[in-house]
Amino acid sequence: MIDRRNFIKAGVAAACGGALWPFVPQARAAGGAYELIAAAGEVRIEDGQQAPTRVMHYNQSIPGPLLRIPQGRESVIRFRNQLDEPSTVHWHGMRIDNAMDGVPGMTQAPVAPGEEFEYRLTPPDAGTYWYHSHLRSWFQQDMGLAGVLIVDEAEPPRVDRDLVLAIDDWRFDEAMQMDTASFGSMHDWAHGGRLGNYLTANGKPEETFAVASGERVRLRLVNTANARIMNLLLEEPQLSIVALDGQPVAPHEPDGGRIRLAPGQRCDLIVDLVGDPGQRSRIEVVVGEYAYEIARFAYGPEVRRQQLLDSPIALPDNPLNRLRLPGDFVNVTMVMEGGAMGGMRGAKYQGREMDIRELVKLGKAWSINGIVDLPDEPLIRVERGTAVSLHMVNDNAWPHAMHVHGHHFIDDRNPGAWRDTSLLARGETRTLRFVADNPGKWLIHCHMAEHMAAGMVTWFEVT
Ligand code: C2O
Ligand code: CU
Repeated sequence: MIDRRNFIKAGVAAACGGALWPFVPQARAAGGAYELIAAAGEVRIEDGQQAPTRVMHYNQSIPGPLLRIPQGRESVIRFRNQLDEPSTVHWHGMRIDNAMDGVPGMTQAPVAPGEEFEYRLTPPDAGTYWYHSHLRSWFQQDMGLAGVLIVDEAEPPRVDRDLVLAIDDWRFDEAMQMDTASFGSMHDWAHGGRLGNYLTANGKPEETFAVASGERVRLRLVNTANARIMNLLLEEPQLSIVALDGQPVAPHEPDGGRIRLAPGQRCDLIVDLVGDPGQRSRIEVVVGEYAYEIARFAYGPEVRRQQLLDSPIALPDNPLNRLRLPGDFVNVTMVMEGGAMGGMRGAKYQGREMDIRELVKLGKAWSINGIVDLPDEPLIRVERGTAVSLHMVNDNAWPHAMHVHGHHFIDDRNPGAWRDTSLLARGETRTLRFVADNPGKWLIHCHMAEHMAAGMVTWFEVT
């Protein structure tokens, strides 16, 4: 259970200068390109923390630097690997060139220690995205290799502030070091993944947004956790969801201020701050019966005079919003089995039928259509432009955050939104429909990193 406040006896030393967020300026290299350097290092999560936490980071920052790139134009991000192990960067949710998707062994070779790779991104869609390691992500992403990427609209709705809240979940020991002994724990892998005991907001124990009464802010929520589903509760009464997984949706209020974000999912809100000067309002993560204040709006003494209340909040359409799903689909069924209490007897792994005991010994616990890990042949191979209907059957005892690379889909349970990650409850079935319009080899996997590592991953090919 998360027990941040008692868990770590934080020192009371005065706040040190170097706030970890945002680290925008130093990411951009001369000539407008970004440089993203992965390395092992140390950060202070809490001010006054005795010994800094050993992590892996991008540009010495947890989360990685906030990258902002324009819509429809190419941006270059030079990735340099200073880790002592190979890595790649995946640009989650972005409909980009397959060769830039960052999947080792599928879209590119792993970037070896000391090597570089130039990612060229020409995003057709504006919105809130994120990036993370896609090599042993159950380890590298958990160690800190994740950050937020914003593709700016040419004409965004007018707001007074544009805020980012990246929420992560860590498993620390008493000295605030990563609990490394439990990496690879088969128990975690066969249950809900590696759940932590410490939540961070933008790399800190909590985030405070200094605001003024009467302001309108855009708040971009990102769940960068390995496995934890974030159930958020916002105290502000005037909220509208304007985008999900980066893509604009018709503005609507979240039910009771509650927003659920599975690992990998994002939500953009427009918030009209209607509290009084001096007030605070909370953003909480609800875990079981506990609610943890992860962030807050802290109202200053002033009041915003010229309020934006009359200006529109809907985001401009992305090209994706103009896409219409046809009536005819190629239908594929994906049955997801395995995990603790799932009753899976066995499955095919590396071309051989194995029983569950054998699989577990090899660190595997999940299958899709009876196959563990990537099959040699894709789940489906379709011509560019084919409409695909993925019928997902979550036939096991666990929720899964299913992510499709390179494409957004319409989920029959949430037909108003183009999403890239869909949370299926235990036993649930959902149908995800999309147009396979981007040539290449693309993954479909559970974004609980440990579930993917333990077998819940497949792929499709667009020719
Ligand atoms: Cu963010 Cu393959 O994932
Ligand atoms: Cu899963």
